[in-house]
Amino acid sequence: MEIDWPRLRAAAADVAGRAYAPYSRLRVGAAGLTCDGRVISGCNVENASFGLTLCAECGLVSALHATAPARPAGGEDAAQGVPEPEPAALVAVAVVAGDGAPLLPCGRCRQLLLEAGGPALLVDTSAGPLPLSDLLPAAFGGAELSARRDPNPPAAP
Ligand code: THU
Repeated sequence: MEIDWPRLRAAAADVAGRAYAPYSRLRVGAAGLTCDGRVISGCNVENASFGLTLCAECGLVSALHATAPARPAGGEDAAQGVPEPEPAALVAVAVVAGDGAPLLPCGRCRQLLLEAGGPALLVDTSAGPLPLSDLLPAAFGGAELSARRDPNPPAAP
């Protein structure tokens, strides 16, 4: 798929202007291209209780799910053993600060982006786009849950 990086960077810069960041005064915008060709975005939202801050990438990932094409009704499909389709995944992401230059996602957001786009997700950097696997090598992923969860969980108290 053709990735229009100037468009993604412009969308990220635009949404950075909508950030609510009165405490850090670091505006951040994130824009992503979905595998079905849509551009979605998010901005950081801070709170007087600092630990509640939402990074721009959190808004982006929420928008990914909130705007995903409707899934078929779960009951019928589950009964027929048809797996639910995945939400439209991210293929490319640009994150910028209020100055318009790329900002590398924080560690938590790299993990969030991994589940939203996989290790091949392209993330813009000041040196050009890089696969997320370069920014988050040897990552923890959901496969560990299915492979290694306790087969005999303790009974609820
Ligand atoms: N921030 C993001 O939005 N994304 C990141 O990946 C790093 C940090 C925001 C959170 C906070 O509002 C401000 O930048 C300063 O940490």
